[in-house]
Amino acid sequence: MPAGTIPAAAGMSSAIPDFGAWAQGGVGSLRPYDPGHDIVALRRRAGADGLLELGSNESPHGACPAAKAAAAAALGDLSRYPDPLGQDLRVALARGLGLGPDNILLGNGSHELLMQVAQVFAGPGAAVAASQFGFAVYAIAAQAAGAPFIAAPALGADARMPRGHDLDALAHAAADARIVYLANPNNPTGTWFGTDALDAFLSRAGPDRLVVVDEAYIEYATDPSLVSAASLLARHPNLLVMRTFSKAHGLAGLRVGYACGHAALLAVLERVRESFNVNAVGLAAAQAALGDTAHISATRAANAIERDWLHAQLQARGIAVGPSQTNFLLLDLGHEASQVEAALLARDVVPRPMRGYGLPTCLRITLGLRDDNLRFLAALDAALGAAPAGAQRANEGGAPA
Ligand SMILES: Cc1ncc(COP(=O)(O)O)c(C=O)c1O
Repeated sequence: MPAGTIPAAAGMSSAIPDFGAWAQGGVGSLRPYDPGHDIVALRRRAGADGLLELGSNESPHGACPAAKAAAAAALGDLSRYPDPLGQDLRVALARGLGLGPDNILLGNGSHELLMQVAQVFAGPGAAVAASQFGFAVYAIAAQAAGAPFIAAPALGADARMPRGHDLDALAHAAADARIVYLANPNNPTGTWFGTDALDAFLSRAGPDRLVVVDEAYIEYATDPSLVSAASLLARHPNLLVMRTFSKAHGLAGLRVGYACGHAALLAVLERVRESFNVNAVGLAAAQAALGDTAHISATRAANAIERDWLHAQLQARGIAVGPSQTNFLLLDLGHEASQVEAALLARDVVPRPMRGYGLPTCLRITLGLRDDNLRFLAALDAALGAAPAGAQRANEGGAPA
């Protein structure tokens, strides 16, 4: 809220204290998470075709019917607090993963859990390491905890594509860190590494630091070499696996995520968990969503078809596009992307700008249904037609995907 929104009472000083200077640790200079655009304002402004929201990697397939029905039923009694332990959901999750309920910790989205891990284990003398082009929340979590942040260079950081994690560089950075965050597959690059490579990385990183493997997009993976790191928990007690219902399960609006790990680790995190952090509607819908494995399979299959199709369409236009095991593609236009971004927005198509990630020539595009993807391509073609001369040419012969 801007200073001065609340008028000073008569006779009172209007000087607003420097609250930023009061903030502890790194919070004083912390910039909040950037969601890309003011999506609500864009929705209000959108024309007859509505807004095509391709900026936040939500599922165009939505939630399964059972989850919607469970959410509706849970609305029946909003006067009661939810189960503070989310026991039924934890039991259901544990059963599916071959774990016990004590190996599951629920979060108000996995974002909350990513922050909670740093709050508990990072600090001025306990650094956080992550790969360059890793998810923005990792650096925010470190800074909020007052912890040094070590960014390990990504693979091919100086080339246009791809920009996957360099696990050797990350293992090197990990030596000085208490927490390592890595997403597999990764946001915003879409890149991934196989479970064997992760196992080797965990062995190299050693047992004295927490390795958080963020699997927000794992349900979209079709590469058989990539299975959940939950399969490695028995070998690596310092591993914490993060998952979410926001992506393939189509429940981003309800904010339900979870961490899988050793009971002794989760018990420490539990000390700072907000009571009732997952609401009753979210608990019910997530549990029902788990039961509909056919919905996830169908979502994965449809997403993979659109991923291949849009990838080919973009490459045919000479646009550099990275490999992806997620529900989005990272495009490199080969020139500063803000003009194309503005032209897409003018056509009510919302991409995710990548300036904040140090990738000013890139845009990240969530895969939609085929009609969405066709609409995106038409808007992109028009936007590129309006882009500065030479922009298309710069893309020709772009780096391989
Ligand atoms: C890699 C990654 N991790 C975690 C999250 C947070 O997801 P949520 O808080 O909705 O569970 C996101 C959201 O986009 C993400 O991309």
